[in-house]
Amino acid sequence: MEFLLVLIYSIAFILLGIYLLLRKRYSYFAERGILHDKPDLIFGNFRKMRLSKPIFLVFREYYNKYKGKAKYVGFYLFLRSFIVILDLELIKNVLIKDFEYFPNRGTYYNEKDDPISASIMHLDYEKWRNMRVKLTPTFTSGKMKFMFPTVVDVATQLVEVMRDAHESGSFEMGIEFADLIARYAVDVIGSIAFGLNCNSLTNPEAEFKVMGIKGFRYRHNWFVHSFIVSYPDLARKLGMKFHFDDVGEFFLRIVRETVTYREKTGTQRKDFLNLLIDLKNSDTADPITMEQITAQAYVFFTAGFETSSCTMSFCLYELGLNQMVQNKLREEIMEVLARYEGKFTYEAMNEMKYMEKVLNETMRKYSIVAFTLRRAIKDYVIPNTNHVIEKGMDVVIPIDALHHDPELFPNPEEFNPERFSPSEVEKRNSMSYIPFGDGPHTCIGIRFSRLVIMIGLVMVLQNYRILPTKKTENPLQYNPKKYFMGSKNGIYLKTEKICGIVNE
Ligand code: HEM
Ligand SMILES: *[C@@H]1O[C@H](CO)[C@@H](O)[C@H](O)[C@H]1NC(C)=O
Repeated sequence: MEFLLVLIYSIAFILLGIYLLLRKRYSYFAERGILHDKPDLIFGNFRKMRLSKPIFLVFREYYNKYKGKAKYVGFYLFLRSFIVILDLELIKNVLIKDFEYFPNRGTYYNEKDDPISASIMHLDYEKWRNMRVKLTPTFTSGKMKFMFPTVVDVATQLVEVMRDAHESGSFEMGIEFADLIARYAVDVIGSIAFGLNCNSLTNPEAEFKVMGIKGFRYRHNWFVHSFIVSYPDLARKLGMKFHFDDVGEFFLRIVRETVTYREKTGTQRKDFLNLLIDLKNSDTADPITMEQITAQAYVFFTAGFETSSCTMSFCLYELGLNQMVQNKLREEIMEVLARYEGKFTYEAMNEMKYMEKVLNETMRKYSIVAFTLRRAIKDYVIPNTNHVIEKGMDVVIPIDALHHDPELFPNPEEFNPERFSPSEVEKRNSMSYIPFGDGPHTCIGIRFSRLVIMIGLVMVLQNYRILPTKKTENPLQYNPKKYFMGSKNGIYLKTEKICGIVNE
């Protein structure tokens, strides 16, 4: 009896504590006169999320509501507060000019207990800079040229899988492209980052893809998650991890096996892993360890696979709906290849200027990474004001919302590659288009993602015309549960063989 009473009192006490903590947290912006929506007690400004709206739409609406009224606004999410920046100059300050105040993304990593989390994506300042310096040479144009044939090999398999499906008739009603292209991207990045033939194009349930997707699922709910991210030092002391154990074990095992094999046999391959092994064996003061190699290879995979594959499938979707754009793009591909005597090379790819416009417009309309984050490490006084972004505050850069701002991109739902003609680009502030973020933390994989997507598109469009079917959604429905922007019900398109062009 007494025990029960103590239990009830303890629970009541804990609940009261949480209530007071949240109330205190959720008065932060009001006390400082920063504009924001009135928060709910538990979810802050995130209630809309429960109404199954994708997170990028939450931020898009927030941005549209407050733009012009303030340069930045507050946003609450569980235990956390964020400053959402609405003003382009202030975005530039945070990302580039005043980087020293915002050198971290403020996401979590735990080198000791969850080694695959200690990647360039999550590491803090010195550790991050150290790794970034080491990895940057891995992504030069010369290295892309070196990897080009490896990617073409996988794209050839993609076309073969398409041909099989096409011939077996399953393409008549359209096939689901989001998954097909995801398998292509898994195979490319598995091959390039891990040196493995993942075979997910031919075997949709390949372990690699399954583990890769599981890597996106964190082991904790949002509440524990926000605790970890808010108190990273404490969380690390408690040994808290983000990833499921089997995911870390899987990637550590395959990297160890592959590296050992290559070292024993002296195998060299045209891929990232080769470049990472060189870093390990270079006799600099601190060569990178097997765990560090795994973490970087793993993040190339998680940061690269879904972003590139969704961009490519959204691009095919728009090409299906916009036949004029598709024809013009195919003409460019044929014209450039003809000049290169039918040989598809890295140089030929770089001459496809209309392709670049199409790709940029795809990444404007579908900004897969809808926002990026920075955390202030010291008080930042906003220029020409007496407002302060306090030390420890998380800052949101609403990439997707900028790309859908009608003042920056009139009629934002229209797909129009001519927005990226030189004269149009010149009219805009450079911060209005940042699909890869900007500044020292900008995406390290920009060139590589272009390689994956452009090679895939060239190979597909040379062989097939892409058409919508009855099943093609317009407008597309988004999956509200995903962190990245993705389709909810898949992307159905049909293919029509292009005759007389393929060299068979
Ligand atoms: C279309 C494809 C892609 C998009 C849209 C994309 C977008 C982004 C964005 C918005 C960021 C945050 C930048 C910032 O905070 O300023 C980022 C960071 C990053 N991306 Fe990508 N990405 C893509 C492909 C890739 C690929 C293929 C790789 C790897 C091979 C990659 C690796 C990374 C890494 C390592 C970071 C963290 C960089 C750092 O903090 O130093 N990404 N990406
Ligand atoms: C396309 O976007 C990339 C990356 O954001 C940029 O560097 C490039 O200049 C853009 N190209 C055009 C034609 O606007």
